[in-house]
Amino acid sequence: MAAAIDTNKTDRTHYSYTAYQTDSITRNFDAMRFGGSFGRYIAEHQLSFVLKHIDNPSGSRILDLGAGTGRTALPLSRLGASVLAADASEKMLSIIQEKSFLQGIPLELAQIDAHTLPFPDKSFDTVITFRLIMHVVNWRQTLSEICRVSRNTVILDFPPKCGLAGFAPIVHHLVRPFRKNHQSYRVFNISDITSALYAEDYVVTAMDKHLVLPFGLHRFVNSSGFTAVSESVLAKAGFRDLFGAPVTVIARRRKCLQ
Ligand SMILES: C[S@@+](CC[C@H](N)C(=O)[O-])C[C@H]1O[C@@H](n2cnc3c(N)ncnc32)[C@H](O)[C@@H]1O
Repeated sequence: MAAAIDTNKTDRTHYSYTAYQTDSITRNFDAMRFGGSFGRYIAEHQLSFVLKHIDNPSGSRILDLGAGTGRTALPLSRLGASVLAADASEKMLSIIQEKSFLQGIPLELAQIDAHTLPFPDKSFDTVITFRLIMHVVNWRQTLSEICRVSRNTVILDFPPKCGLAGFAPIVHHLVRPFRKNHQSYRVFNISDITSALYAEDYVVTAMDKHLVLPFGLHRFVNSSGFTAVSESVLAKAGFRDLFGAPVTVIARRRKCLQ
């Protein structure tokens, strides 16, 4: 591992640290999130959106922050990018390490905390962070760090308050007392993200809103035909533009746009 975890003032008992140290979550992470045809579909959709917007992956220096089991870091490295996969969880990093070894894909790894990144300003061409700011203790501090260490592009996703994801806080409230390490993630107004990025000197240049119906329903039905037909009908009716989730944004440093 390249760097040691930073001792900072965030609450280390928060689920965003503890949940990803448990075997039940880390060992089942890929199968639960990206297993089956629906899981592969959501991973491929987001990766293809990223690839459309990374100028030239080959040769670019990329930080995948909160890299998890490497679903973004590994394919980008395979395409020739120099990728640092960073995460707070040693267990998640050990899974990426194993995959990178088995797949013969080179990857640098670092155990670090997203709230205080141990890199100088503008160390990376692009910083990618998926399913992270929804979980961290302090999302504004994390976003500020992400923007600081990127030279050009920041790519991140989040569940929007509009649409069905907006009900998540109510569900969390009901479920939390019964589930240890329940992941009570936050949901965002899209304008909170775009204005926080703007305050860090970044402009959102592209946005993808993915699915209207809840992931849980698509997983439950487990039919690519159902996902394709239902989501295409809802998109044509204009619901995806209003309610699609997660929202993935590409933001560029303002100076790089001039
Ligand atoms: C939901 S997983 C997402 C993993 C991956 N980005 C993906 O989309 O598949 C969240 C990841 O963020 C990591 N994480 C949570 N809090 C963090 C923090 N403060 N600093 C760095 N990583 C953190 C967790 O260990 C976990 O691997």
